[in-house]
Amino acid sequence: MNSKINSFSAPGKIILFGEHSVVYGYPAIAIAIDKRARTIISSENEDKRGFLHVPDLYPNNFFPFIKKENMPRDIAAHLKIIKYFTDSSPSKKLPYISITSDIPISAGLGSSAAVIVSLTKALSYYYDTYTSLDEINHIAFKGEIIQHKTPSGIDNTIATYGGGIYYHNGKIVNISVPSSSFYITVANSMVKRNTKDLVLKVRQKYEKDKETVQSLFIQIDTIVKEALKAIKEKDIAHLGELMNQNQKILDKLGVGHPEISKIIKIFKQSNSLGAKLTGAGGGGCVIGLFHKKEDAIKAVNRSRENNYQSFLTLSTNIGVKKDE
Ligand code: MEV
Repeated sequence: MNSKINSFSAPGKIILFGEHSVVYGYPAIAIAIDKRARTIISSENEDKRGFLHVPDLYPNNFFPFIKKENMPRDIAAHLKIIKYFTDSSPSKKLPYISITSDIPISAGLGSSAAVIVSLTKALSYYYDTYTSLDEINHIAFKGEIIQHKTPSGIDNTIATYGGGIYYHNGKIVNISVPSSSFYITVANSMVKRNTKDLVLKVRQKYEKDKETVQSLFIQIDTIVKEALKAIKEKDIAHLGELMNQNQKILDKLGVGHPEISKIIKIFKQSNSLGAKLTGAGGGGCVIGLFHKKEDAIKAVNRSRENNYQSFLTLSTNIGVKKDE
């Protein structure tokens, strides 16, 4: 068992193309971003009882490692991961765990997956079990299922490995995103939403009218494949057009929101090449693609003037890691 206090972190993500259809086995493209969730794990716990503290969300609660009825879904997911390690470890000394994040929560940027992945890595270190990245990804996916019921797995995958990925049915192809050729602005509509409910909303639409929804997924599939080509060819203008097209289909799927449309307009007024929601939609974040840095900054400033949280984001190749 490893001692002292250690910190582990994993990145959030943006889905560039293919949210929702990815749940049905179609491909999607995502990149890890320079905002991270962090798990601090400590063995300096004299009374041997384990506690989980998530100060950003539950400042006054120190959750013991016992599953109870009506527990918040995220805490239940964390406890499931903790149980996986405590059950298989000979050591009975339980850690004190604190989780923080600088990824906006419930906003489509993969904060829940980044948390789960950093927690999994922290526990594998604490209990001294060799856990490969593939295993971390696999364990974290189980936690994601508790939170989101039918996740595609793209969020935990990108949080584990970082970088850029083309994700198709659980398989990944690493892609090199030419991030020096463009700038991405993120604006948070501040409309909190829940991935599980939005995935369910699309599911209900799908069950009601399979033919129409399937044809929308096929259109997204074509966009994703074209986007992969545009990324390889560094055709940034086309990438922007494809983002606009993807957004139109997401609107048809019923996951748009008036605040999302407002942000897209602000981005357009700042010369975006393209803009769309990212993640499950229904609120959450919008991403805008810009050729010039000054336009991207203009979009950030205009978004902030309109009371949206906004920032220029950078991609990162650093997946889950032990912090120095
Ligand atoms: C993930 O951030 C967004 C959705 O595609 C759900 C999923 O992939 O699990 C809507």
